[in-house]
Amino acid sequence: MANEVPGRFEGKVALITGAGSGIGRATAVRLAAEGARVFAHDLDGEALAGTAETITAAGGTVQTRTGDVTSRAECFDTVAAAVDAFGRLDVLGNIAGIARGEHFTDVPEDAYRLMVAVNMDAPFFFCQAAIPHLLETSGVIVNMASNAGLMGQAYTVAYCMTKGAVIQLTKSLAMEYMKTDLRVNAIAPAGTLTSLTLGYQMPADVDIELMRYTGFRGMAEPGDIAALFSFVASPEAHNIHGAVLSSDFGVTAG
Ligand SMILES: NC(=O)c1ccc[n+]([C@@H]2O[C@H](COP(=O)([O-])OP(=O)(O)OC[C@H]3O[C@@H](n4cnc5c(N)ncnc54)[C@H](O)[C@@H]3O)[C@@H](O)[C@H]2O)c1
Repeated sequence: MANEVPGRFEGKVALITGAGSGIGRATAVRLAAEGARVFAHDLDGEALAGTAETITAAGGTVQTRTGDVTSRAECFDTVAAAVDAFGRLDVLGNIAGIARGEHFTDVPEDAYRLMVAVNMDAPFFFCQAAIPHLLETSGVIVNMASNAGLMGQAYTVAYCMTKGAVIQLTKSLAMEYMKTDLRVNAIAPAGTLTSLTLGYQMPADVDIELMRYTGFRGMAEPGDIAALFSFVASPEAHNIHGAVLSSDFGVTAG
């Protein structure tokens, strides 16, 4: 990957959720290439093994754990396992997420509850579990929000709600821990080429005029978002706290 900063995370430990695919995988790979020992988590064990293989082949250090972030116990157990594995925790990246598109009145209850559990509840519980450890290391939390948390989008109401919640999680934690060295920030990507967008289904009868959030400048690569994550999580970003950083080709500009 281009423009890595060698040694940027030397001695540091990063726990990354959603590390099997897309932005999570790119972030895990990048942080490991920059010296972090990475604890990589995902629901998909096979995908996670692929991430681990990439990191190991490049000479990096990684341990993996397969699990479902919709379980509060899994969130707490994963943080404990990361600290057990590497002795400390410096970076928490809440990246696991799901999305789907449909008419608001068609959203099934189970799909709504799953969206809330993965995108909103899991970051909350991971932060709860990780903060005591991050306070010991002057650590960093980076939550993966979305342009969908900053603007209304048709046909993705539940997704927008959860990403708005991720932004408020970030800002309110930033206030609560203002007198400590902990930093808490969010990144808000727009369309990025991952399995989430490549497998995206919309109902055939959507009103295309309402779908203005696809933007003018195309899609980002997962590595574009990982590069920003790496900077925000690094000591160079020491004055960035409580921020929501857009990386979206201008989708939220107007
Ligand atoms: N791709 C985009 O256009 C885009 C834009 C804005 C924000 N985001 C956000 O970025 C994050 C990463 O998305 P991506 O595009 O890389 O998607 P992706 O589908 O490529 O990766 C998401 C990963 O999360 C994992 N995951 C899903 N449910 C899980 C669960 N219950 N337990 C554990 N792991 C689970 C999946 O297995 C997958 O590996 C998400 O939070 C997403 O909302 C993505």
